[in-house]
Amino acid sequence: MKKNQKRRKTKGITQESKRKFQVDESLIYHKQHWKPGNMIYPVPAVMVSVADKTGKDNIITVAWTGTICTNPPMAYISVRPERYSYHMIKETGEFVINLTTRELTFALDYCGVRSGRDVDKFDFLGLTRQNASKVAAPMIGESPVNIECRVTQCLELGSHHMFLAEIAAVHASEAYMDEKGKFHLEYAEPVVYSHGAYCDLKQSLGTFGYSVKK
Ligand SMILES: Cc1cc2nc3c(=O)[nH]c(=O)nc-3n(C[C@H](O)[C@H](O)[C@H](O)COP(=O)(O)O)c2cc1C
Repeated sequence: MKKNQKRRKTKGITQESKRKFQVDESLIYHKQHWKPGNMIYPVPAVMVSVADKTGKDNIITVAWTGTICTNPPMAYISVRPERYSYHMIKETGEFVINLTTRELTFALDYCGVRSGRDVDKFDFLGLTRQNASKVAAPMIGESPVNIECRVTQCLELGSHHMFLAEIAAVHASEAYMDEKGKFHLEYAEPVVYSHGAYCDLKQSLGTFGYSVKK
């Protein structure tokens, strides 16, 4: 008992000294009050590949996406019903989230401003269709990570319908693995979306838990 108490004391957060922020007061107190709006940035911007029941496929750029559960692994995408891709996801309940890179930025933007109603985006952009393992929608070969998803729920929120999905399989490119087999997404130069701009992630500022590491 005494031993446990000692351990708790030495590992306790009371041992950590408080930090003082050295920032200009204007950064803290001079804020404007805005009407409600979407202000969570940066966000991922991904290319979602889809297919209808007849096998016709398409790619749509999606920024309203993210992880929603660790176990079971789940993700979401929010899509406006008027998008051409929407009916494909509704029909099959499947899609693939393809992560994007500096190399793919042009394609990322293009898939977000042209509709599959008018153009075959795979062909126009010269992207490689790859068979997924669990879903019928194709994967984008040039993407470093392909995440196969099966829809479990569709929440009709308003402008966007949110597809909650279980992750059925993940494919990660060996090109971005080190000699020990560890995957480094940063080697692929991933892209995020912030206030209308595509940005890269130049520098790591610390790794998980660094703020409490001894
Ligand atoms: C950076 C970016 C992010 C986008 N995010 C979304 C999104 O989260 N949901 C959505 O419905 N549309 C989004 N769009 C718009 C669609 O990608 C766009 O309307 C596309 O042309 C639809 O393709 P489709 O008609 O072939 O389905 C985004 C566009 C861009 C450029």
